[in-house]
Amino acid sequence: MNEKMAAVERLKKEKDAVILAHYYVRDEVQEIADYIGDSYYLSEIATKVKEKTIVLCGVSFMGESAKILNPDKVVLLPDAHADCPMAHMAAVEKIGEMREKYGDLAVVCYVNSTAELKTHADVCVTSSNALKIVRALPNKNIYFIPDENLGRYIAGQLPEKNFIFNDGYCHVHTAIRREDLEKIKESRPKAEILVHPECREEITELADYVGSTSGIIQYATESDAKEFIIGTEMGVMYELQKRNPDKRFYAAGNTQICPNMKKITLEKIIGALESGQPRIELEEEFGRKAHAPLIRMLELAK
Ligand code: 13P
Ligand code: SF4
Repeated sequence: MNEKMAAVERLKKEKDAVILAHYYVRDEVQEIADYIGDSYYLSEIATKVKEKTIVLCGVSFMGESAKILNPDKVVLLPDAHADCPMAHMAAVEKIGEMREKYGDLAVVCYVNSTAELKTHADVCVTSSNALKIVRALPNKNIYFIPDENLGRYIAGQLPEKNFIFNDGYCHVHTAIRREDLEKIKESRPKAEILVHPECREEITELADYVGSTSGIIQYATESDAKEFIIGTEMGVMYELQKRNPDKRFYAAGNTQICPNMKKITLEKIIGALESGQPRIELEEEFGRKAHAPLIRMLELAK
């Protein structure tokens, strides 16, 4: 353990803090985390931890979800500018228009969204539970925000529903190109292709498995295959290699890096623990109204 890691350990105890990290953050941050997971796991575990302070090593929508679910805890986001651009890619006015147009409408909001957007949702979902949750909804008409690719991927498996899509996207996943994926598959014909549903359809249709970051890690760990082509952010390589030292993992095309996830560093975690800043502060109304769709997600995902 190096000096910075030791400082995090000491401060965690001093401040009664717990560290939650997403699989896309830097390796050294994953190494010091108490809990690592996909967005669903992080929101669920945030409701169970006992410590007074949660240090959320991820992007702001993850910190906001932890705060909405735990209004009495301090939630620190070590870099206040670590934000997911997709979280802002839906318009409140458009939600109102859709509600007027379709009587029987469920607004399904991917957790990669601002707290404000969540206040207008009937239910939240993550990539690991979206199919199960949307299938369980009584509504026929589904307005899926903000991610179009995840929406279309789920819609393809639920022909009984009428989906209305929004045009949000993840710049990291949509940058994965089919020609690059095909080229790497040609050179590694035995490799299985595992991708995130934020990828474009031309990518998901080539995949052996499509799922959340946790799903990808679990699939690779349980599969008999020895080689895998990974279509998501490169941070997952840390856990993939750790759990599967004898297997080989290749990036699907160019190395995919989420610049916002990489903003979280050990130095910033130390600074946040020392100063108690930056912390997630939500407008009272947003915190209160966004609680119900998140809780509904946790219940329907069980
Ligand atoms: P997961 O919920 O699969 O971890 O995905 C979060 C995310 O931001 C994907 O880009
Ligand atoms: Fe947002 Fe994409 Fe980064 Fe995930 S990988 S946090 S969706 S920008």
